[in-house]
Amino acid sequence: MLKHKQLQDWIDSVADLCQPENVVICDGSKDEYDRMWRLLMDAGVAKPLNPERRPRSYLVRSDPGDVARVEDKTFICTETKAQAGPNNNWVDPEDMRATLKRLFTGCMQGRTMYVIPFSMGPVGSPIAHIGVEITDSPYVVTSMHIMTRVGQAVIDELGTDGNFVPCIHSVGRPLTDRQQDVPWPCNPENLHISHFPDTREIWSFGSGYGGNALLGKKCFALRIASAMAKDEGWLAEHMLILKITSPQGETRYIAGAFPSACGKTNLAMLIPTIKGWTVETVGDDICWMKFGDDGRLYAINPEAGFFGVAPGTSMDSNKNAMLTLSHDCIFTNVAETEDGDVWWEGMTPEPPAHLVDWQGNDWTPALDTPAAHPNARFTVSASQCPAIADEWEALAGVPISAILFGGRRATVVPLVNEARDWIEGTFFGSIVASEKTAAAAGTIGELRRDPMAMLPFCGYNMADYWSHWLKIGEHEGANLPNIYYVNWFRKDIDGHFMWPGFGENSRVLKWVFERCLGAAEALETPIGNVPTMDAVDFDDLDLSEKDKAELLRVDVDGWLQEIPLIREYYASFGNRIPEALIRQVDLLEARLKEAQQAVA
Ligand code: OXD
Ligand code: MN
Repeated sequence: MLKHKQLQDWIDSVADLCQPENVVICDGSKDEYDRMWRLLMDAGVAKPLNPERRPRSYLVRSDPGDVARVEDKTFICTETKAQAGPNNNWVDPEDMRATLKRLFTGCMQGRTMYVIPFSMGPVGSPIAHIGVEITDSPYVVTSMHIMTRVGQAVIDELGTDGNFVPCIHSVGRPLTDRQQDVPWPCNPENLHISHFPDTREIWSFGSGYGGNALLGKKCFALRIASAMAKDEGWLAEHMLILKITSPQGETRYIAGAFPSACGKTNLAMLIPTIKGWTVETVGDDICWMKFGDDGRLYAINPEAGFFGVAPGTSMDSNKNAMLTLSHDCIFTNVAETEDGDVWWEGMTPEPPAHLVDWQGNDWTPALDTPAAHPNARFTVSASQCPAIADEWEALAGVPISAILFGGRRATVVPLVNEARDWIEGTFFGSIVASEKTAAAAGTIGELRRDPMAMLPFCGYNMADYWSHWLKIGEHEGANLPNIYYVNWFRKDIDGHFMWPGFGENSRVLKWVFERCLGAAEALETPIGNVPTMDAVDFDDLDLSEKDKAELLRVDVDGWLQEIPLIREYYASFGNRIPEALIRQVDLLEARLKEAQQAVA
């Protein structure tokens, strides 16, 4: 019996509903972790990698139908549809409860129900929050061990009446007498990733993969936490957090929101190409920020590990990630080499001559299918990262000086522009658009609005979320971060990327850092402050003057063409859209027209 009566009652009620064979309260120990792997190996879903090449690491192959977040099966169940907004799939809470009752009744028969008490954020941090995930998947248990802080310290922190977010997960494949288990049980036909922001509950059915199943991540740390943050006056964001240090030893912390699979992990672990500068990692995906007594926003990374996209990660693109992955790592849906190691597209310039692909089939480079799934993932403890900042677990968090917003934009959006104030910064965040990637099911390459990189993750109406951002800007005594819009993905007319990206992004970070210190030049333009050509450190970079100018150019015509699209997008939120943002569109349009006339 747990001392926390409400927790114990909840566990009992879920066990009554799901009817598992037994119930295990997880302690987060190494023993427990190893026990889960034995189960997963016996089930034939996991195999240990060659211990000489990848000590204590495992390869897992999911069901081919369960490989990514499924946004059209992700639901926000608020009292009214308007509260969820056009950015979410809404279902009436009562209807959803009826569906979930039907789905979850008996859904864990023949399986063990694991109860995972976990902390999002360092245990005891005033910015952290606690959740308890119930799951019937040992893979979820191992992953939660890495991605969150699990165990007795969390139960102790909860005491007898502490708050926790209840998170219920089932793969949705009960083992009745007639049914044999499969290596990766799931139930895609009945997939439901349901959130109840008002009661702060998560119910996830039918998937064992990533953001659908590790409920601390997208479901809690973003969808539910964004609703908590709105009520409580803080921010729960889809942002990396990095620490940058100048050659003079001056340090700043920068947060950055980029849509899924747009290089957040690479940016968070970047190795600067500019001499004397260092970048260290605090977090690569999620950032919770609360006001400190000094009016600054203090951030923690609520996660304890990285659940990153493997394809494209290499010693060239992200050496720190590659070193992080060298041991004690879970790889899901990557390819396997002949010597029992892993490979994915982009890891080496040439693929090995023979591999076993992510579905377990023989693979050679002659085939035109990828060896690793494009959304293949690594799961690894953040503490293994060579670039992890000493203060990444600081209970008080780190003070944020700048926030970056970005997406994949082949045209229009320059390398970097700075908002004149918080309102303009909120406006920039609200209009971010990006080409779609493989992190979610759907058409890759299609342009979609992804405001603040939160489109799939905001647990309520996006227009209300923008109002919340504006309200944060009005916090008494606030000393707010500067806000920047960045774009590493501009292409020339031949379709080539114009900016080298990766470590070279440090040049943009340097300008941002210097702006925060009031020590870098900028031109005031219709789209905010843009660096002068001399203000960005382009030294030793193989870029023509023409390309540099193009990267920093304010594309007045291109922006003017965006204006009706922004208005149309805002109109989809009806009258909930904050007046202040409409005014920003008007102002931007007027400034652009003025600039156009000045040229004509
Ligand atoms: C992720 C995502 O897994 O954004 O981080 O999809
Ligand atoms: Mn993410």
